[in-house]
Amino acid sequence: MMDNALIIRSADKFRGKTQVLTDVDLVVAPGERVALLGHNGAGKSTLIKMILGLTSIDGGDISIDGAKPGSNVARARTAFLPESVNFHPTLTGREQLTLFARLAGGDRPDIDALLDRVGLSEATNNRIATYSKGMRQRLGLAQVLLGQPKVALLDEPTSGLDPISRQDLYAIINELAAHGTAVLIASHALTEVEAQTDRIAILRKGIKVADDTLANLSHNAGLPTRMRILVQAGQADQIAKATGGERINGASVELYCDANQKMQELRRIAAMGDVVADIELTPPRLEDLYRHYSKEGQT
Ligand SMILES: Nc1ncnc2c1ncn2[C@@H]1O[C@H](COP(=O)(O)OP(=O)(O)O)[C@@H](O)[C@H]1O
Ligand SMILES: [Mg+2]
Repeated sequence: MMDNALIIRSADKFRGKTQVLTDVDLVVAPGERVALLGHNGAGKSTLIKMILGLTSIDGGDISIDGAKPGSNVARARTAFLPESVNFHPTLTGREQLTLFARLAGGDRPDIDALLDRVGLSEATNNRIATYSKGMRQRLGLAQVLLGQPKVALLDEPTSGLDPISRQDLYAIINELAAHGTAVLIASHALTEVEAQTDRIAILRKGIKVADDTLANLSHNAGLPTRMRILVQAGQADQIAKATGGERINGASVELYCDANQKMQELRRIAAMGDVVADIELTPPRLEDLYRHYSKEGQT
């Protein structure tokens, strides 16, 4: 498939005798945002380093917009935000970014606009040594935006960021994708990628155990939706009995139902009349899915 900006085929990686990646397939199309999820040690950073040509590929192959990892072409087309970003501490943010822009060649970008874009306009003339981890990561993001890359690899981009700049981060990711960049975001922080990515791939001990849209993962996992019924005072036991649910306090009853039974259940409960004050539905969370897919095939 020539359409994909990033193609990983049957990738294997060994560290000594330990196999840390096994037969991993992963493709990312231009403009697609893919989350690569997995616990610490699952192999996310290793896979990214293989894409960058920073560590060897022990089996299978990887193509970046048709180029081999580590080649000049691949490097020119790839942007990378490492897990912890280290710049030259004595340079200011503006100096560091100007230096990167010069190294990248091409058009001379508007450095101040870029720094403003990542929320660093107040710190452009401060030395990087004075930056917090979050600020260094923002500078790293500015660097990612510099070259209009074909592929952007972000390794744990939200570590060290405060919640507000997490929103900024996703605004930037969406901007990259809108310009046709294939974006791969490695994260162990599950809640953050929910609804923010087009597809989710889950690595477990170096093996890809899931790769689909959030909606399809939910559907295929068959995880139940939680229903919480708020009932009128003194009616909880009665409603628990009638619904087959469980009373969780004086005023609510909880039950679980399959996604395809949801409307039927809702109608049945609504028909119970005024004793039902409210119904709250909670679909399975990414965390539940993650647990589900991580367990599957466990030996
Ligand atoms: N430089 C290295 N030398 C030896 N083992 C490593 C090295 N880097 C990572 N590993 C091992 O490879 C596995 C995958 O690690 P990593 O790719 O960093 O996982 P993740 O990024 O998902 O947390 C882990 O078991 C880790 O201990
Ligand atoms: Mg990592």
